[in-house]
Amino acid sequence: MAAAPPPRLALRGDLLDFRAAPAWGDTASAAVRFRPDHWLLIEDGCIAGARPSGEPLDASWQPIDHRGRLILPGFIDTHVHSPQLDVIASHGTALLDWLDTYTFPAERRYADPAEAEAGAARFLDALIAHGTTSAVVFPTVHKVSADRLFASAQARGMRLITGKVLMDRHAPDGLRDDVVQAERDCIDLIERWHGNGRLSYAVTVRFAPTSTPEQLAMAGRLCATQEGVYMQTHVAENQDEVRWVAELYPEARSYLDVYARAGLLNGRSVFAHGIWLDDNDRAALQAAGAHIAHSPSSNLFLGSGLFDWRATEAAGVAVSVASDVGGGTSLSMPRNLADAYKVQALRGERLSAWTALHACTRGAALALGLGREIGSLEAGAAADVCVWDWASGPVAQRRHDMAGALHEKVFAWMTLADERNLVAAYIAGIPRFQRRTVPC
Ligand code: GUN
Ligand code: ZN
Repeated sequence: MAAAPPPRLALRGDLLDFRAAPAWGDTASAAVRFRPDHWLLIEDGCIAGARPSGEPLDASWQPIDHRGRLILPGFIDTHVHSPQLDVIASHGTALLDWLDTYTFPAERRYADPAEAEAGAARFLDALIAHGTTSAVVFPTVHKVSADRLFASAQARGMRLITGKVLMDRHAPDGLRDDVVQAERDCIDLIERWHGNGRLSYAVTVRFAPTSTPEQLAMAGRLCATQEGVYMQTHVAENQDEVRWVAELYPEARSYLDVYARAGLLNGRSVFAHGIWLDDNDRAALQAAGAHIAHSPSSNLFLGSGLFDWRATEAAGVAVSVASDVGGGTSLSMPRNLADAYKVQALRGERLSAWTALHACTRGAALALGLGREIGSLEAGAAADVCVWDWASGPVAQRRHDMAGALHEKVFAWMTLADERNLVAAYIAGIPRFQRRTVPC
């Protein structure tokens, strides 16, 4: 792997990104920018522009010919748990039992620095090999797990948002912190990593049941006093969880209101799930500029419920798509988008490929306030770019060949593709993944 980006790189392929947010259901959206058979020009780690392939390039550009392949901005996974590769695809439970039976025991291992370091590297390499170049990540309660994740992301040049998980009750021994030590650890990590290169800190509240009111208040103080930090947590994922939160916080109007009262609802808040919210909650999210990380494969796998994307969007709340591995069953964004389509189908809605792809590229970037840096192929953005085969295997190839309009081709791709379609991933212009074998 190269240590520095080649100064001038030109990737040839079919370029696809977005100029604006596509309207719900519009399959012929003017928001889509499709530039078939173009050169994508990359200079000093950033996108410099694009040119039709017919226009000659001077010798200063190093050409890489991916003719006939799809070139997209690297995907942004707005909610994923790095230690949970160890429990992905665990049988037989809904959220609260799944946490106790599988997830908490796995997360305990991350107290060990060697485990935390190896786990961070394994996780980020897997993410990149699935075409995801930026992420908002939960490590574990252990300070070292966040520290090693930041260091591993920096070594790969990734835009990463993470922070040590806060949990001071309703969790087993070895997985609880306390308010005073947790605050110190957060401040240490913020000083070391927040704003360091492409890294940002997220105050990371696991969910309301595993924090005392005192810890939520401390998290709220961090959000108020530490400039530019994000906040990430889970909200209203599962009905038993919602009932439990109502018992623990009887003074709050709703689950979301628990966070609002603690000062955790703001324009840099990322709320995973949000299935069991009401109109008042959605209005509060909108007023704060917070956003929902919809996690369809997780919601289906854990049987959590069917997210109301349309109501959320209609309320003016941004929706991104996230894998939520290990509740989710794949780091592959296309596989999660395919599940998002099925969730909406069960609600009687039809998700377009444009709304789906926008939600894990430009839409997610804007929701995170990072629209200039990630999520598009616009000149000036970081060259976080992935090259994909339009089809992998004879069935997908036949479907691709039979498809007519662009939306039909891209929808078939989104529904059938996975990490086997990924040919190459560049982060800030540096190749970080290159497929070795060519599928037949
Ligand atoms: N709620 C609290 N913790 C978790 C977690 O690790 N995964 C999911 N899906 N929901 C959660
Ligand atoms: Zn989660």
